[in-house]
Amino acid sequence: MGVAFFVFVVAVIRIGIAKPATKFELAHIPDDQRLTRMAYAEAYPLQFESFKMNMRGDPSPTGFGGAQFGNSHLTEQPEQLELFKGYKFSIQYDDDRGHWYAGQDILESKRRPGQKGSCITCKGSYMYDVYFKESGWDYASKPFDEIAAPIKDDEWFGCSTCHDPDTMQLRIYNQGFIESMAEKGIDISKASHNEMRAYVCGQCHTEYFFTAEDGRVHMPYANGFDAESEWSYYQDGHAKGFTGDWTHPDSNARMLKAQHPDFECWQLSVHADAGVTCVDCHMPYMREDGQKYTSHWMTSPLKTTEQSCLKCHDESAEVLTARVQTIHDNTFKLQRIAGETTARAHTTIQAAAAAGATDEQLAQARLLVREAQWYWDWVAAENGMGFHNPDRIMRTLGLSIDCAHQAIENANAVVRGSITTNPVLQAPQS
Ligand code: HEC
Ligand code: HEC
Ligand code: HEC
Ligand code: HEC
Repeated sequence: MGVAFFVFVVAVIRIGIAKPATKFELAHIPDDQRLTRMAYAEAYPLQFESFKMNMRGDPSPTGFGGAQFGNSHLTEQPEQLELFKGYKFSIQYDDDRGHWYAGQDILESKRRPGQKGSCITCKGSYMYDVYFKESGWDYASKPFDEIAAPIKDDEWFGCSTCHDPDTMQLRIYNQGFIESMAEKGIDISKASHNEMRAYVCGQCHTEYFFTAEDGRVHMPYANGFDAESEWSYYQDGHAKGFTGDWTHPDSNARMLKAQHPDFECWQLSVHADAGVTCVDCHMPYMREDGQKYTSHWMTSPLKTTEQSCLKCHDESAEVLTARVQTIHDNTFKLQRIAGETTARAHTTIQAAAAAGATDEQLAQARLLVREAQWYWDWVAAENGMGFHNPDRIMRTLGLSIDCAHQAIENANAVVRGSITTNPVLQAPQS
């Protein structure tokens, strides 16, 4: 007991010591340059220089993720071509790279043509500091090109994305995140300093959808942060007129695209329970000439394992990296199985329809494939390849594989004639 208590106290102290913000001198940035990054270069050289590291295209030490340009999920996992058939993600779907490129990459994305202004919401604070302050969510449903045109190259994803330019304190600018957390009963204006070190990333690294009424960005948090609660949110009438992202051309199922639920996945993890946030791992404290500062190279923490992990963990960097690698390998294995089985469910339902099964008879199988793909995508689109929350991720992939097999079994049973009427167990999306 004594030893356990001592270990606990040491852990608390070590986590506690890491927290207080480092000291810095506040500089005045001219009003017309507050959304840029270059205007901050001289005032905050250590932070600025490390932020520039986000231009590097280094691979991850584990081989998963990485910051290289053009790493395609579609080449790596060809089952995604079937899963996203009929939807823009089957045209181009690359892994993420550094924040420096957020503007350039959306402008050059093959998925961009035809999109709306809402897409700029997670590419920097222009959406808030210019559009939202002027006329609320109006920008969200206007054409993307019209909304993006006035934004200069240097005004995408800069320092004001996470800092209030007046005070340099952390701030949440994405009003969709604030509204969605309020829907769950969480008041962002009362967040602690430590909570802000997760919310500031969570405002973008999260699942979201666009509401039917005015295209605003919203997150399905009200029922809880796990994949099952978010699924129930989309099914129980919470989703403000949003029914899905597209209809799959093979199965004819109305589908949901999950989008990088990094925040939610982390929320339920042992690290979150211990008060360890995104910033502790992805933006560790550094020292240069005796000066302590926060690294602004937001990338794989295994590129800085000593500063990112060993301040709390006693294992060697090699042991910890191997542990992460094992979690990734296990996750990737099951993710592929879930994806391949779900892809097979789409074509099985297609074959059942071709054999004469009616829409009414196939309604349950379609609902099941929608659910299977939701769980698969919740993991596939999440950026930690299992690490952020290994046990929650395994549970979610298990549900996906189960739903996909049920969908296949159900569609085949309709064709065999062993199911004639097929009552929908859960209300289908309207
Ligand atoms: C993606 C979010 C994000 C962006 C973008 C960002 N910062 Fe930070 N910054 C943080 C976080 C998180 C901290 C830690 C703050 C804390 O714990 O109080 C921080 C801390 C700081 C500090 C306080 C001193 C320190 O080192 O801890 C300064 C100064 C700073 N950032 C400057 C900048 C500048 C300049 C830019 C643009 C080049 C920038 N930041 C861009 C998230 C960001
Ligand atoms: C304004 C929205 C936004 C915020 C806030 C934000 N991110 Fe990101 N993040 C992105 C986008 C968009 C990309 C992908 C950029 C690209 O590929 O061009 C990205 C990419 C990344 C990557 C991949 C980089 C690599 O080397 O592979 C990491 C890691 C990351 N973000 C961590 C964080 C952390 C940690 C925070 C909080 C301190 C944060 N992000 C805050 C939008 C955001
Ligand atoms: C306990 C440490 C830790 C915490 C906390 C953490 N991460 Fe991570 N994150 C990692 C590790 C480790 C990886 C996998 C890196 C690798 O394989 O190279 C990762 C991967 C990522 C990636 C993908 C990077 C890439 O190369 O493509 C993103 C994006 C990301 N995390 C964002 C976040 C966000 C946002 C949060 C908070 C909501 C968060 N992380 C919390 C450790 C952490
Ligand atoms: C601020 C402290 C802190 C940091 C930074 C941190 N960890 Fe942890 N980590 C913890 C705590 C606390 C636990 C839970 C301890 C326990 O239950 O034994 C934990 C648990 C883990 C586990 C077991 C996870 C599980 O689901 O059971 C792994 C693996 C791990 N950490 C890896 C890492 C890696 C890799 C990094 C760096 C990218 C990292 N940690 C950074 C404090 C930290």
